[in-house]
Amino acid sequence: MVRGRKQSSMIEKEHICNIMENYEKGKITIGTLGSHSALNIFKGAKEEGFRTVCVCKKENEMIYRRFPLADEIVIVKDFECLLDDNVQKRLRQLNTILVPHGSFNAYLDMDEILNKLYVPMFGNRKLLRWEIDRELQRKWLQRAGLKVPKRFKDASEIDGLAIAKFPGAKGGKGYFLVNSSESFYDKAEYMIKRGHSTPEELENTYLQEYVVGVNVYPQYFHSIFKNEVELLGMDKRYESTVDGIGRIPALEQLQIRIIPTYTIVGNIPITVRERLLQQILKMGDNVVKVSQEIAPPGIIGPFCLETVITDNLEIFTFEISARIVAGSNVGIGTSPYAYLKYGEGMYMGRRIAREIKNGIGNGELDKIIL
Ligand SMILES: Nc1ncnc2c1ncn2[C@@H]1O[C@H](COP(=O)(O)OP(=O)(O)O)[C@@H](O)[C@H]1O
Ligand SMILES: [Mg+2]
Repeated sequence: MVRGRKQSSMIEKEHICNIMENYEKGKITIGTLGSHSALNIFKGAKEEGFRTVCVCKKENEMIYRRFPLADEIVIVKDFECLLDDNVQKRLRQLNTILVPHGSFNAYLDMDEILNKLYVPMFGNRKLLRWEIDRELQRKWLQRAGLKVPKRFKDASEIDGLAIAKFPGAKGGKGYFLVNSSESFYDKAEYMIKRGHSTPEELENTYLQEYVVGVNVYPQYFHSIFKNEVELLGMDKRYESTVDGIGRIPALEQLQIRIIPTYTIVGNIPITVRERLLQQILKMGDNVVKVSQEIAPPGIIGPFCLETVITDNLEIFTFEISARIVAGSNVGIGTSPYAYLKYGEGMYMGRRIAREIKNGIGNGELDKIIL
């Protein structure tokens, strides 16, 4: 029944349900790749009474030993080995439900996840495809009525401050600002020289209006069981070098020709003016509604909107993640919004585990797994 790695047609829900049927429901293990928000996920799983398994690379093992939250550690050469038959088999033996995070999209091939990963995953894995495509995301956000930054299809269309996003860039590394097609080609050359990108990638660079304002990244959780979108936290990113530039006087900035980049280094918790919550809550509801149309049954569990809020308090959304985001790590333990909703001790990793526990309890695990 469980097919091996060579098989490659799209995994159907019934395959996963068959695997789940053979699981011992009293001995479910929550697993993920050792990276991104794994500690958050493991801590939450343990607090809800689950066992945990971490699939990690040898060089990162120390992290998952020092913070003793993984009951079992499976060492792999690289993250792609998650798809190896023996690793998948071990995970199924442990009755594992995988919780996907950003490293799944960043380091694994999307088709492989969709076609070859015969381990139940929390959430709707079909939405991962929407998430890795900037144009699909844009359509989704627009259909939900959210404001999105303008897109320039070609460098010649640039008519103001724009951000250039190289396709291969991970975590904002190698993005840069331009204000004309000349400055685009000039800076692109410089970025290639610095090794941030390759000439081939230049062709597919995504050019977008740069919205001047402040970053706000609300983190939501859509519960299928409660039929509600919960706001559980908010953060802003701490990005190198853009967040360091303000510490250097303008004169020196010009002399050493700093081009800001957006390499994510960490996250900072924030709260917003209370009046903004209305719109932020509605945006979450609308995004979920559209997700139910484009990839039924839509978003299951965590998602995050990446926004810039202007001085008119207009909210522009430039990205969506339909899974747990690393920004939710600022809420480990609790966050102001999780506290308002749940009181002590709720955060994204735990909320996921709670939903899985509820699914086991009400016999509806199949509704939140794919
Ligand atoms: N349209 C935009 N306007 C202003 N800032 C932006 C815009 N798009 C991206 N950024 C900045 O660049 C960072 C990385 O961009 P993002 O599209 O989120 O890339 P990634 O796919 O690497 O997460 C963001 O966190 C934000 O600081
Ligand atoms: Mg982003």
